[in-house]
Parts: sequence; C-alpha cells; structure tokens
Amino acid sequence: MVLPSGLPAQHPTPKAPTGDARGLRPEHIAIARRYHRTMSQSLPEINARIEVAQTLPGSFYQDEELYERSLDAVHARSWHWLGDASQFKANGAVALPQTLLPGALDEPVLLTREASRDKLRCLSAVCTHRGNLLSQQTADAKHIVCNYHGRRFDLQGRMLSMPEFEGAEDFPSAGDDLSSLGLGRLASMLFGSLRPAPAFEELTAEMRARIGFLPLEEFTPAPELDRDYEVNAHWALYVDNFLEGYHIPFVHPALSRALDYRNYRTELFRWSNLQVGIANDGEPVFELPADSPDAGQRIGGYYFWLFPTTMFNFYPWGLSLNAVQPLGPARTRVLFRTYVWKRELMEQGAGSGLDQVQREDEAVVEAVQIGTKSRLYTRGRYSPTREQGVHQFHRLLCDYLRT
Ligand code: FES
Ligand SMILES: [Fe+2]
Repeated sequence: MVLPSGLPAQHPTPKAPTGDARGLRPEHIAIARRYHRTMSQSLPEINARIEVAQTLPGSFYQDEELYERSLDAVHARSWHWLGDASQFKANGAVALPQTLLPGALDEPVLLTREASRDKLRCLSAVCTHRGNLLSQQTADAKHIVCNYHGRRFDLQGRMLSMPEFEGAEDFPSAGDDLSSLGLGRLASMLFGSLRPAPAFEELTAEMRARIGFLPLEEFTPAPELDRDYEVNAHWALYVDNFLEGYHIPFVHPALSRALDYRNYRTELFRWSNLQVGIANDGEPVFELPADSPDAGQRIGGYYFWLFPTTMFNFYPWGLSLNAVQPLGPARTRVLFRTYVWKRELMEQGAGSGLDQVQREDEAVVEAVQIGTKSRLYTRGRYSPTREQGVHQFHRLLCDYLRT
C-alpha cells in the first residue's frame, strides 16, 4: 500500500477501506459515481436533419441529474409567466411578492410600480443584508423595508438606509441594492427571467408580428375560467405533446371534428414555433386583414410555443395561455390562464372544450412517462411532416443543457 505523502513514518498504516455491503471499496464507488455522472451529462446528438434524426432517449425523461441541470441551464435562462398587470389595480399595492417558477426555481421576487410612473420592475425579494424575505407586509407606498433589521429600499431596488451600520467600510455598495430580474410584458401579461437568453422582444418577435391584428389591450383576464393542472410526467414530455398536432385524430375526437387535420401545419422560428389550425366549415375563424400572410384562409387557432414552457393559444374568442411549471422529474404543473375578447364565440370550434382536451393530453402524456421508462425503449424517430416542432424543441433543449 502506498502511504499518502506527508504521513510520518511512525504513523500507523492507514487501514484499508472496508467497502459497502456489496463489497465495493470507496474508490470503486467513486469511480462508478463519476461514470454515472458522465453518462447522464452526455446528452445525445439530435441530428439537424429531421429525416435522419432520433428523438431524445427515454432515459432523458427519468434522469434526475438532467432534470436538476435543466433548472439552471434552461429555466433560469428563460422567461416564465408571472401574472397580469391588473393585479396592481386590484389591490392598489406597488410592490407585490411573487415566486418565479414555483416548485422549480422558487425564486422570490417583487413586482414593483412607482406611483409616479407606469414603469414596472421585477426585483429580488431577498434582503441584501442577511437574506430575509421581503414580503407584502414589508412594502408601503414608497419603500420596501426589511422587517428583520430595518434595511430600506426604494421601488427601484436601491438601498436607502440601514440602521447602525456606522463604521462599515465601502458601504453601501452596488451589492447592497436589490438585484433586478428581466421583466417582459405583452399587453398586460408579465413574464420574468433570472438570466434572460434571448431577450423577451426577440423571443416574442414573430408571434407579435403574426397576431399584430388582434387588439390584445381589449383581451380581458377571466380568472373564473382559469385552471391549474398537475400531470405525472416530465415537463418536457408535456411540451413534446403540445408541439405536434399529429396525435389529434387519435387523442382528441371532438377537436378533430373542428380542425382540418390535412391542412394543419407547423412553422418554425428561431426560439419559437407556430401551429396553424385550419377550421372545418361552420366553425369560428379569425377575420384576417389583407396583409396577413394567412389572408384568405380559415384559421380557427394559432398555437404559439415560446421556448421552453410558454404556449399562447389564440382563438377567435381570445387567448388561452399555458405556463408549464416543472415540479420534479415526473411531475409538472400546467397553468391555463384565460383572456376573453369575444365571449360569444367561446365554446365553439377549436377553442372549445379545452378542459376535455387537456384531460386527453394528460392521459397520453402520463402513459408516455411510464413507457419511456421501459428497458426495451431507447429512442424513436420523428415524422418529417408532423413533428418538426418536437425536433426543434429537442435540439434547443440539448443546446441549453450543454452550455
Ligand atoms: S436581513 Fe434584512 S435588514 Fe437584516
Ligand atoms: Fe393534444
């Protein structure tokens, strides 16, 4: 046995490690752990050519380490639903505590609005002194005051005062101000990001251009129609399923009657994509302006997906916004938020029966979660004409996870 260097000669010879119940010695266990980590960190290649590409392996949807890595590598860098700006009007508050991606990032934030202007901000809700949470009770009309030792901030996050810090050098510094997060806004809808990549404007550019004819400022939140669902599946499986209309004839009989499946199509953008649902005869459709790229077509639904977890489903009656929130490797929450424009068109066509469609999606996604665990399933292939969105998502996801 080689003695660790630096041990005096008379030092008793270190005992050989005894190992675990399987007879493995600690060094073997360490090697096995390292190997496992390397395996789970090595992501598969998703070929850029959908014609030859293979899907994510089934093991991806079970892998706890990759799930944990996705929190920082994917979710901390992307945009997440934070709520609606109407919250400010409802209670007159100027600093509202929220949680960015509850159950996954769990980042405490404050949405603030200065009384003097309409500028909204998203600030860290963690006091820069010793980390106390800044809550609803700590904010008044002009200031945020920590209720632990009395540090005061303005609504831009600047530290204003701190009791009994005389003698502290280099104080205050920029690090004593509250950190700012990215805040994206589409009409009254608010989105936050810890380290945004890309910028919100870039993420939403194609969607904003395509639905520019819709007066979003006339869309009204309808909280009585909102729903939260929890699904026993990996968040990426829920997204996979959203990104193809391929399953509609098999999984959604009622929706299938409203949509012209043969003409259902997907368009890809840099960070997002769009599925265009053509309506069957007699179903409600958008009144499109002459300069729309879809002018003359009977569009019953525009289904936009923004990488990685936000879906905007526009129907002739308004918008159903879906926010996918990871809760664990096999548990996902999905928020449905409703914005009504033309209430009389609800419960007709592709935009109707959304709860039923969600239940049908949940059932199949939960079955896939179990199926991808099989030792006999490895990877699948993509339909080049029906699964372009899934292929794009898998490639983006692997890119984010690698960097
Ligand atoms: S933790 Fe906020 S003042 Fe001490
Ligand atoms: Fe579906």
